[in-house]
Amino acid sequence: MDLDDCHNFDDFRILAKKKLPSPIFHYIDGGSDDEITLKRNTNSFNSCDLIPNVLNGVENPDLTTTIFGRKINMPLFLSPTAMQRLYHPDGDKASARAAEKFGTMYSMSTMANTSIEEISNISSGPKLFQLYVHKDKSITDDLVERCKRANFDGLCLTVDTIVAGNRERDHRTGFTTPPKLTFKSLVDFAVKPKWVFDYFTNKKFELSNVKNKTDKGTNITKSVIEYINEQYDPGMNWKDAEYIVKKWNGPFALKGIMSLEDVERAIDIGCTAVMISNHGGRQLDGSLSPFDQIKEISDKFGDKVEIILDGGIRRGTHVIKALAAGAKACSFGKGYLFSLSAGGQKGVEKMLQNMHNEIKRNMKLMGCKNLKELNSSKLAYR
Ligand code: LAC
Repeated sequence: MDLDDCHNFDDFRILAKKKLPSPIFHYIDGGSDDEITLKRNTNSFNSCDLIPNVLNGVENPDLTTTIFGRKINMPLFLSPTAMQRLYHPDGDKASARAAEKFGTMYSMSTMANTSIEEISNISSGPKLFQLYVHKDKSITDDLVERCKRANFDGLCLTVDTIVAGNRERDHRTGFTTPPKLTFKSLVDFAVKPKWVFDYFTNKKFELSNVKNKTDKGTNITKSVIEYINEQYDPGMNWKDAEYIVKKWNGPFALKGIMSLEDVERAIDIGCTAVMISNHGGRQLDGSLSPFDQIKEISDKFGDKVEIILDGGIRRGTHVIKALAAGAKACSFGKGYLFSLSAGGQKGVEKMLQNMHNEIKRNMKLMGCKNLKELNSSKLAYR
């Protein structure tokens, strides 16, 4: 099996599973507790069906939309995800280059293995930076200032991870950052010699954006769960968020909100966007899915804030349903991490091409010439 055989999310997932040591595969693939929300994120798209219109002469549907002040060529972009160096030696560089090629947005995590400055040097495409608030507040100021200097377009603050979700797969596999060979995991790594070779012959693993402030996760091995629980500030509140919005003074989203009340407060503190998300089912298990909430949120606030659906996207029709329900754009994480693991930049490009083809084809089948024509009249809820 190679990239040419990857026609959809599941194909990339299978190829990624073949290439990655199992602790790393399960870190991407897993959710929290019983993984009910992880599954719900995708299954909820089946709670409604599409109603197409015909004979509209749709030859070349316009897939462009604007988010964080930048026009993007398709209504799907890359969510911020941590430690991409584990999936492919090129890590974030591969993702950023692939996104730029498709004219869509790349997002960088605070926990990236490539720095804000390195990405800014290689890509002039649309770029979003994701912020985690550490207990050491000087980290926040440092990251915001560096993003400004590096011309990032927008900032998003993750608010659903003040404590780590209970990711039992990681407990079982002993996943750490940087990866550590233990007696338990030795076999898991030994059966993937190509990954081990690539890992040790490329740039040393580091948390590039915070290594000037902490050795944890770079020179001091930690599990991700330990890192989150030791480093992130669980006391973060609306005042802290407002401080960051003001300091950034540009396109800004809260990422990981689900309730109408929180969207309203986000608008009040000056957010220009909200990312409706439950962190890919990795945090509060039993939480509802972004698609479950998107219609109500956009009916009430769609004209006041950019609404982005993050979570569960596997197919072009999921994007189409999300937009018909009121989202301005969607983002996905696992969707491109498996393709990055499967084939680096080429893998991400293949996945984005597949999704672009699916969205375009289905817009034609829906009879829609542009994304504005996708509205709730196109959805029948069951
Ligand atoms: C995770 C964090 C680090 O989901 O975003 O693992």
